[in-house]
Amino acid sequence: MIETITVDLGPRSYDIIVGTDVLAAAGSRLARLLPGRPLIVISDSTVAELHLSTLLSSLAAAGIAEATPVILPPGESTKDFAHLELLLETLLERGIDRRTVLVALGGGVIGDIVGFAAAIALRGIDFVQVPTTLLAQVDSAVGGKTAIDSRHGKNLIGAFHQPLLVLTDIATLDTLPIRQRRAGYAEVAKYGLLGDADFFSWLEAEGPALCADAPAAPAARDAARAARHRAIVQSCRMKAAIVAADERESGDRALLNLGHTFGHALEAEAGFGDVLLHGEGVALGMVLAFELSADLGLCAAGDVERVRRHLAAIGLPTRIADLPVARDWTPDGLIRPMAKDKKAYDRQPRFVLTRGIGRAFMMHDVPIDAVRAVLARSLAR
Ligand code: NAD
Ligand code: GLY
Repeated sequence: MIETITVDLGPRSYDIIVGTDVLAAAGSRLARLLPGRPLIVISDSTVAELHLSTLLSSLAAAGIAEATPVILPPGESTKDFAHLELLLETLLERGIDRRTVLVALGGGVIGDIVGFAAAIALRGIDFVQVPTTLLAQVDSAVGGKTAIDSRHGKNLIGAFHQPLLVLTDIATLDTLPIRQRRAGYAEVAKYGLLGDADFFSWLEAEGPALCADAPAAPAARDAARAARHRAIVQSCRMKAAIVAADERESGDRALLNLGHTFGHALEAEAGFGDVLLHGEGVALGMVLAFELSADLGLCAAGDVERVRRHLAAIGLPTRIADLPVARDWTPDGLIRPMAKDKKAYDRQPRFVLTRGIGRAFMMHDVPIDAVRAVLARSLAR
């Protein structure tokens, strides 16, 4: 069950390989694609414990002499200047040259910091993404956005730098904690909501099983993996097409930010970290974006209810008041960080709104009173 999706960017095109046993076969693929190139694997300590040995064995079996892996701490706080410096200095100490290829084994945190290190080390070296979270497999590992966080906000320091290859082993999701799987699922649902109503209908039927822990019975486990495979492939196809058409986000790539203007504000208020995971913020943000669209007469109230019902069935938050951390939050407190969002223009937040499920578009002049009203409703206890 291997599917290859190509991100078509001319001379910088690359493949996304999705399937099971992709990690165990990584060595032979990398040996074919990058003959004789030195590799350095970078991971976080949680992922390293679970999946690094499979990758290293496969590199060794393919005759790839990779250097000692670099292991960073897990969590969003790793995406900072201090860890970037540590990573870059370690790589330089190892004597990397322009033939060196970095291999990012982990979730979006590892993918983002390793991608950024690759973008700036020696003015740019190659890297490969080996995503191990659902979020990274359907979103962050694809498309070449790399970054670290600043005290002014998330992902504010970074570069566009495309990987050479994305190796997605869906079996790695079996070890992912359910909360992380659900958070990643928000990005899967996003693809249906922004541009593919049929995919969203399919997710309404298959989503809960797709997110659940791997069942013990082999037939049920195979069915869950098959559903994950289909969801990841469809998500990657949609992202690949959007990135190929608008690599630098001057047009339709901005649609991938459905739910993110609200979501980032919620994450900022929650302090970026485990209190509110990125995907949880995106789930809430998508509900708020649909509500705002309905309030502005752009989409039907029934669509808002469908979105809310589905995300709630997955176990994702759909009202801000349901977050224990939100007790003292106010609409204006949430609107403030929106002006610092990367998508803001003249300090005015921009929103991806919708004319219905699968029909997202970018709106520039959203009345801030309408945003305030939506936030107030979601905050009401
Ligand atoms: P993450 O990388 O922090 O991973 C979540 C947790 O799961 C970590 O503790 C990690 O150690 C653990 N983990 C990873 N894989 C595992 C596995 N297979 N089994 C068990 N545990 C595992 O978080 P994430 O949700 O993958 O990524 C979030 C980051 O991605 C954020 O920093 C966000 O800004 C970024 N992001 C980037 C893009 C982009 O386009 N570059 C898009 C979306 C999000
Ligand atoms: N995650 C949004 C993007 O890649 O553009």
